Amino acid sequence: MSEQAASYQAMPSLSPYVGTDRYDHPKEDHKFIAEQLRRFVDVDRPMRVGDLGCGNGELIYFLKSQFPHWEYSGFDYTESFIDAALSFEGLAGVRFRVQDLLDIAETFEGVLCTGVANIFPDVGELLDKLLSVCESGGWVLIDGLFNRHPVDVRVTFRDNSFPESQGLWRTAFNQHSRESITTMLRGRVRSFEFVDMIMDKDLPFDPAKPAVNSFTFRAADGHNVLTNGLNLIVNRTLLAIEK
Ligand SMILES: C[S@@+](CC[C@H](N)C(=O)[O-])C[C@H]1O[C@@H](n2cnc3c(N)ncnc32)[C@H](O)[C@@H]1O
Repeated sequence: MSEQAASYQAMPSLSPYVGTDRYDHPKEDHKFIAEQLRRFVDVDRPMRVGDLGCGNGELIYFLKSQFPHWEYSGFDYTESFIDAALSFEGLAGVRFRVQDLLDIAETFEGVLCTGVANIFPDVGELLDKLLSVCESGGWVLIDGLFNRHPVDVRVTFRDNSFPESQGLWRTAFNQHSRESITTMLRGRVRSFEFVDMIMDKDLPFDPAKPAVNSFTFRAADGHNVLTNGLNLIVNRTLLAIEK
């Protein structure tokens, strides 16, 4: 097996984001995000919302059912995910673009970025971009593995459980400490808050799926803990920023 520098690889052939069944089963994370939006944002107000790294647009689809008066735009650099969004009739009329989120030049009143921060070894690059596309007085919601301990973790892994990923060194599941993020945001935004994302739905290990996919186990206190074939405990956190 050849060695190579680790990069993020979307791997559409192994991904659930090209199937249409996803739209009917909103992720627990996405339901949680809608709940939190009700807490942080004046959701009755019409607004322009950008979802950066939107995948197949399933978060937009769910939010549209909750907040139909918002105007949504979705961006992702993986063409097959955007194709899935564009060919799903439930998302007809929503604007989707194949684009690297780092190249987006327009601005929004609300910015969503979910499942993406862990891909960036340097979260500062991503946060700078999200703040630059967010209008003053607007909001950014981003989730990640934001460590309570002052420890930043950069991860490279090789998942040999499937032929498509065999031999490929990849990066994801990077953890950014709340302390590092606090240092980056302090003085630049009106307010920000970290919210634990509790995952109490059972997600059994499925040997038919890539070993890096998530599953849960039950801790002694009765709560589920999210992990995956990297043997990492994945503490998901939502970061809500008011700019
Ligand atoms: C784990 S998926 C999350 C998808 C979706 N946000 C969700 O919550 O279901 C990560 C997505 O980020 C996209 N992505 C990663 N880096 C990106 C970048 N620099 N620009 C645009 N999309 C990116 C990938 O193509 C993939 O669709």
